[in-house]
Amino acid sequence: MEYRGYDSAGVAILNSKGLEVRKRVGKLSALIETIRQRPIHGQIGVGHTRWATHGQPSEINAHPHTDCTDRLAIVHSGIIENYALLKERLLAGGHTFRSQTDTEVIAHLIEELARSYPMREAFRRALKELRGSYALCLISADEPTRLFGARNGSPLIVGVGKREALFASDVPAVLERTRRVVYLQDHDVVELSADGVRITTMEGKAIRRAPTRISWSLAAARKGGYPHYMLKEIHEQPAAIAHTLTNRLDAAKGHVTFDRRTNAFLDRLDLREQLVLIACGTAYHAALVGEYMLEEVARLPVDVDLASEFRYRGPLLNRSTTIIAITQSGETADTLAGIRLAKEQGAKVLAICNVVGSSIAREADAVLYTHAGPEIAVASTKAYTSQLTALALLTLYLAKRGRRIPAAQWHRLLEGLARLPKTLERALASEAAIKVVASKYAAARNFYYLGRRYNYPSALEGALKLKEICPLIHAEGYAAGEMKHGPISLIRKGWPVVVLAPQSSVYEKVISNIEEVRARSGECVVIASEGDAAIKRYADHLITIPKTEECFSPIVAAVPLQLFAYYVADANGCDIDQPPNLAKSVTVE
Ligand code: F6R
Repeated sequence: MEYRGYDSAGVAILNSKGLEVRKRVGKLSALIETIRQRPIHGQIGVGHTRWATHGQPSEINAHPHTDCTDRLAIVHSGIIENYALLKERLLAGGHTFRSQTDTEVIAHLIEELARSYPMREAFRRALKELRGSYALCLISADEPTRLFGARNGSPLIVGVGKREALFASDVPAVLERTRRVVYLQDHDVVELSADGVRITTMEGKAIRRAPTRISWSLAAARKGGYPHYMLKEIHEQPAAIAHTLTNRLDAAKGHVTFDRRTNAFLDRLDLREQLVLIACGTAYHAALVGEYMLEEVARLPVDVDLASEFRYRGPLLNRSTTIIAITQSGETADTLAGIRLAKEQGAKVLAICNVVGSSIAREADAVLYTHAGPEIAVASTKAYTSQLTALALLTLYLAKRGRRIPAAQWHRLLEGLARLPKTLERALASEAAIKVVASKYAAARNFYYLGRRYNYPSALEGALKLKEICPLIHAEGYAAGEMKHGPISLIRKGWPVVVLAPQSSVYEKVISNIEEVRARSGECVVIASEGDAAIKRYADHLITIPKTEECFSPIVAAVPLQLFAYYVADANGCDIDQPPNLAKSVTVE
């Protein structure tokens, strides 16, 4: 689970000695070393990799957290919002706290309740007092053959193996042991024991949840010879988008379709009504491209919002609004809250999502899965291009349904989309050349990225990739036409500016923006279409990409942007798969 948090880690194991705990600050490898030196054994335990919310990374703040008597241990993902009040009460009741975390209150709360109730009941009563989000697991020396778990707003699954069961926050963690997984839902309370998996409501009423068989292979969740997951996932993009297209696009027959539920959802839409795309981070950049596609090609009215803004700005929604939530993990807290808000106000929700069975996939009215396979690197790559591919399919479907597209254009786009996996393979062939350009700029500390129209979001995404995995660098993406309204004042000799200039309806405008940068002695790394000989004289360094339809150009341009960021970060010795301060799925606010 290291990609979900890696500032500290710990385990607690129950055995004949009681509870044994090992914790270390830093990567999981530090904890592994400690356990090598001081082994622990047992058949039941809990472990956790932390992304700090309350209290800095330290051994004391690392999970598991124990009660005053060290008889029970808790691991927790999420935030307990009323922890301060609970802590005050527990302190007054004589409990001693060791950490600054919100999680520790849960351990003491259960300890307190276990004085009056059996552990199962104490656990449930404690959950009822918690406000906020949690996926949590508990072991107790008083119930040495049981593992307790519960979720509310944070992902938790149960892997059902042969004579064993496991809790985890995400599927890759259990793939080595089992492919049978139960996706827990909010307010589920679970007990794992030799008797099996027992799921109940908070009130103790039994619930049946059938296991799902996971199709992801273990190899898909491993590095497969690449030095980093990010590089592996960049290279997986032709296959990932081919999966997004499979069974949905038939260019020969001129056909786009989805599963029955999604088709029915799309066929019911009133195409005069507003579509609102919400997402966070890279998925938000995909949404921006989606806006251009849906407006230009399908002629639909579209709004785009960051989920974290959307949920608090009091959006005007009604039964005819359709929300399209874009998310790789399907667990991002802000996006989940956004769709819940929208549903409360009667809006319909379509999710574009990668993780089957995730919270957003379950709560949406229909889901368009991207089928990109597990994405482990913190920096999103194949999830992004497969989201764009899904948006392209959606655009074509709705354009046809609304009869808003001339037949010739429809067929041209369909064929361009069907060719995309091959086009991306060709884009990957420039890797060596991109590495050379990246090495030239490895020492630069500020970058601008510029693009217009479909490639304005590409500029944002290119800059995000670089600053995300190379924390030494400041990078900003701008709409190229905005430069002259402020950002251009920073340009000086040698300042690297990555410009997206593939053949497009705004090509000449972008050339003018390059001229403006060069007039101020900035240096342009230009990403242009293959065969564009004229652009050479404007570029300090040229990276070429295969030609495609303008609306698909961000999918192709993503490849050199990702590789450029990767090789700049690599040359700087950055921890590419686990950049500081980040975590893969942001399941807290
Ligand atoms: C950037 C990145 C993040 C995610 C964002 C949304 O490379 O990975 O910005 O895109 O946290 O995550 P999902 O798509 O899981 O909702």
